[in-house]
Amino acid sequence: MSSNKINLTELADRYGSDKGSTKHRYTELYHMLFHPFRGRKINFVEMGLLIGGPEHGIDKDRVTDDLPSIRMWLEYFPKANIIGMDVSDFSWFKHERFMFHRVDMDSLDEMKNAAASLPAVPDIILDDASHASHHQQNGFLELFPKLA
Ligand SMILES: C[S@@+](CC[C@H](N)C(=O)[O-])C[C@H]1O[C@@H](n2cnc3c(N)ncnc32)[C@H](O)[C@@H]1O
Repeated sequence: MSSNKINLTELADRYGSDKGSTKHRYTELYHMLFHPFRGRKINFVEMGLLIGGPEHGIDKDRVTDDLPSIRMWLEYFPKANIIGMDVSDFSWFKHERFMFHRVDMDSLDEMKNAAASLPAVPDIILDDASHASHHQQNGFLELFPKLA
């Protein structure tokens, strides 16, 4: 099957993201919205990379060993640059189209630095971090104004 035909929900299920059919099914909406961007060299930012962090009472310095949604986006957008942000460390993951920035969304200063670290103007920003409203507000204040 050509990569452009692969459905986002199938990718979420394959890589273990909670956005797929096993839990939220947000991928159905994302597929509808993001499909037109698939073949383009966009800059895509995701905040929040692996379920089971501080939002579940787990230490931010936990050992991480996967980033399911980033693997999913890399395959879904075969030309895009993907920027991942999280309070836990994912700097071990290397891919030519992936960049990681560690940031605690609780801190407005760290959010400012994260925004300043963006290598290019983002076309899409997806906040799937703690879902705490004050973290979302910090994202809206510092990161979302950078959108194309
Ligand atoms: C819902 S999970 C992300 C799920 C992932 N996007 C997926 O689809 O499988 C939430 C993530 O938010 C991160 N997180 C929690 N609190 C945070 C904070 N204060 N700043 C940045 N990231 C945070 C966690 O480390 C965790 O990786």
